[in-house]
Amino acid sequence: MKNIIPEINKKESVTIKAPIVEALKTAYKNPTYQFHIPGHTKGKAVFKDFKKLIGDKALSLDTTDEFDNLGTLHPATGPIKEAQELAAETFGARKTFFLLNGSTAGNLAIAMSMTKKGQKIIVNRNCHRSILTGLMISGAEPVWVCPNRIEDWSIWGNIEAYQIEELLEKDKDISMVWITNPTYEGVVSDVKSISEVCKKYHVPLVVDEAHGCLWNFNRHLPETALKLGADAVVHSLHKTGGSMSQTSMLHISKDSCLDEKRIEKALKLLHTTSPSLILLASLDAARANLQTNNGLNLIDKAVANAKYLRKRLDEIPGLHQLKGDFGYKTDVTKVFIKIDGLSGKRLESILEIDFNIEVESASDIGVLILCNLGNKRSEFKYLADSLEKIASQHYKDIYYLENRKHMPMLEPQIKMSLRDAYYADKETINKKDAIGRISAEVIAECPPGISILLPGELITDAHLPYLNDYETLEVVKNPLQY
Ligand SMILES: Cc1ncc(COP(=O)(O)O)c(C=O)c1O
Repeated sequence: MKNIIPEINKKESVTIKAPIVEALKTAYKNPTYQFHIPGHTKGKAVFKDFKKLIGDKALSLDTTDEFDNLGTLHPATGPIKEAQELAAETFGARKTFFLLNGSTAGNLAIAMSMTKKGQKIIVNRNCHRSILTGLMISGAEPVWVCPNRIEDWSIWGNIEAYQIEELLEKDKDISMVWITNPTYEGVVSDVKSISEVCKKYHVPLVVDEAHGCLWNFNRHLPETALKLGADAVVHSLHKTGGSMSQTSMLHISKDSCLDEKRIEKALKLLHTTSPSLILLASLDAARANLQTNNGLNLIDKAVANAKYLRKRLDEIPGLHQLKGDFGYKTDVTKVFIKIDGLSGKRLESILEIDFNIEVESASDIGVLILCNLGNKRSEFKYLADSLEKIASQHYKDIYYLENRKHMPMLEPQIKMSLRDAYYADKETINKKDAIGRISAEVIAECPPGISILLPGELITDAHLPYLNDYETLEVVKNPLQY
């Protein structure tokens, strides 16, 4: 049993505090004559249809920090400071930063503050594009670790500790390890062993746990990297934790060797100077909710619903689901499935058009279903019934093979540094003429935001199935110049 759960239950007898939510409530009840931003002035100057859609209350709550005793984000003061401290305590961190602009902002801040030009950083090849953007800004060089491939599903799998150790042993100049866990489809790596390797070689470990913010709160979910020796962890609370879109947290772990003051400075530069109090309150509220019995029950239900769905799916002939297998585990709430004779994209459109079901994402192979805190058992029943119909009915007859691929599974051929290629003189040329040239742009479609091509990489025929939507590509103009 993870220790966070008894602690949280103990606190249930005390009122769970949500300081930003409280401060916003007070501000709402005590309106002032407003001669400051935002200029729509509590919704009075807003397009009527929009106001009707979103509601008076939401607009009158739309304010930024500095005003009405709501505190400030940079530096963190007042209710915002208190809320960040409560979040740190809840997630088991030494320090937590609230992020607007998602985990993207956290990754950028880590790169800007913890890496610098020429430094070598181990990064998994299937990392999110925000990490690469960060490295382009700082000028640090990724040393790629390619996770195991799960060929049957055309996806990247877990990263092995020995892979990290081999790279660290080979190149003593590597100064940080930055991994993503879990993968988009929920495959989990052995972070504990990886962190032991990092400690042995005295390099910090940063874990992009964007998809794992609930892990601290339920013993049926994997263990969070914050408890397994990572120095910093990002969580997209908006993805699975119940906060509003674009809100995330960056945690510095209790024993971290990183200097949070430097990270804070980078965050200050990266963040808007007008943070939305509604978004900050939604992070505060999500944390508070996860601490309550209600929130813990919602996670229990999500896990139980995932197990129910998985059991139903096991009974459908021709339908397969990705499960924890030898060498890796999976997060039970992320259900990646495929149906014989249907591409994932085709399955996604059938679900959407014929059943009004929208899934998280689809690749050429399968579709990804998230078992969310807010989904009801009846919805999972409807989903399982619908998939049963699709697997047994005529849909397979209209199977077509797509000549495009969606999950980049490429091993890069690096010809120039990421940053040099990004800032090089570029030219835009026809895709077919780009084979053999060096890419000058990041191509990483969302979801999942994993790169197809990065600046500095050789463009080859293997990239073409992923580039159907592109007529032209940006390439380095005079590579020999660099
Ligand atoms: C692994 C990973 N890291 C970071 C991000 C960026 O997160 P956000 O959308 O919160 O900026 C994503 C988004 O999909 C992601 O999948």
